Amino acid sequence: MAFKELVFSGVQPTGNLHLGNYLGAIVKFVELQDSHDCIYCVVDMHAITQAHDPNQLIANIREVTAAFIACGIDPKKHIVFNQSQVAEHAELAWVFNCVARIGWLNRMTQFKEKAGKDRENASIGLYDYPVLMAADILVYRATHVPVGEDQKQHLELSRDIAQKFNNDFAESIAAHGFGEGFFPLPEPLIQGPATRVMSLRDGTKKMSKSDASDYSRINLSDDADAIAQKVRKAKTDPEPLPSELPGLDKRPEATNLVGIYAALSGATKDQVLAEFGGGQFSQFKASLVDLAVAKLGPIGAEMKKLSADHAYIDSVLRDGSARARAIAAPNMKAVKEIVGFLS
Ligand code: TYM
Repeated sequence: MAFKELVFSGVQPTGNLHLGNYLGAIVKFVELQDSHDCIYCVVDMHAITQAHDPNQLIANIREVTAAFIACGIDPKKHIVFNQSQVAEHAELAWVFNCVARIGWLNRMTQFKEKAGKDRENASIGLYDYPVLMAADILVYRATHVPVGEDQKQHLELSRDIAQKFNNDFAESIAAHGFGEGFFPLPEPLIQGPATRVMSLRDGTKKMSKSDASDYSRINLSDDADAIAQKVRKAKTDPEPLPSELPGLDKRPEATNLVGIYAALSGATKDQVLAEFGGGQFSQFKASLVDLAVAKLGPIGAEMKKLSADHAYIDSVLRDGSARARAIAAPNMKAVKEIVGFLS
């Protein structure tokens, strides 16, 4: 069966939205608006899989929504909403819990990283996180999912769940007139020079919301001074920049900064090296500061302004939730019929 192309992606409202979220995901969200119908979700149910402060969660939900809009997502043409307002996500996740296998979840590396040594004490929600993620995407029968590199394994699991559901219920799916398969196998879109932005303090570690050092990341809410300071203090090595890509081998910090520059300027890493190769890091960093401040400064300012306008942000989410529900509800109704629930 041919599925209509539809983009879905989500961002957790867990605070400290950073340059990795922006370059790895949100920039792509913005680009895809021109070619596709898009649904962008603030995944608040994923955000409670680890300990959280309810007041902070509300503020973070508004902040991610504000960031989406400040970065250029149009909530009128596309859909922006928060996950908890569309009950079908949780409903489909339950059905998928009965499709996914424990062995599949046991292979998820992000659970192992997040649960750490005290795995017995992790929430079941944290373990089940990727199944809810599959439900997020598939409750809309979305076909394309822009994400950073760290979500690749979760996207593969979503495809496995969709495939197994289609196989397990093949007869019922056909009997209900849905042809060969009810769910598309969603395609990850992981592209560009910054699919994995690394920490500014350690080029071998991913830039992350939870890093104890604020100097490890550029937050989208940082002002020009903070951005400049963090870029200037970013770890580098003593060698000048190479003129060609192979010269970046085994130089994680240099690779990271060149990737960030490339992504922010819309160039390739080759083009960046052609321009800065042979020069000192200090010169390159000065240009990176100018570029980062020019690109991110206005976003941070707009985000702050919008985050404070609760009435506007809440109305965007309410409107988006209603439109999301209108797509999810008939799909969920069909799933219930396919699995044999009497309605
Ligand atoms: P989250 O909130 O951790 O991150 C949001 C997006 O940012 C990307 N990202 C990065 N990209 C490049 N470099 C980095 N250092 C970096 N850090 C984060 C992530 O890959 C992601 O695309 N599980 C998801 C949220 C989610 C979701 C979904 C995504 C829930 N349901 C359905 C897609 C489809 C997450 O935790 O993202």
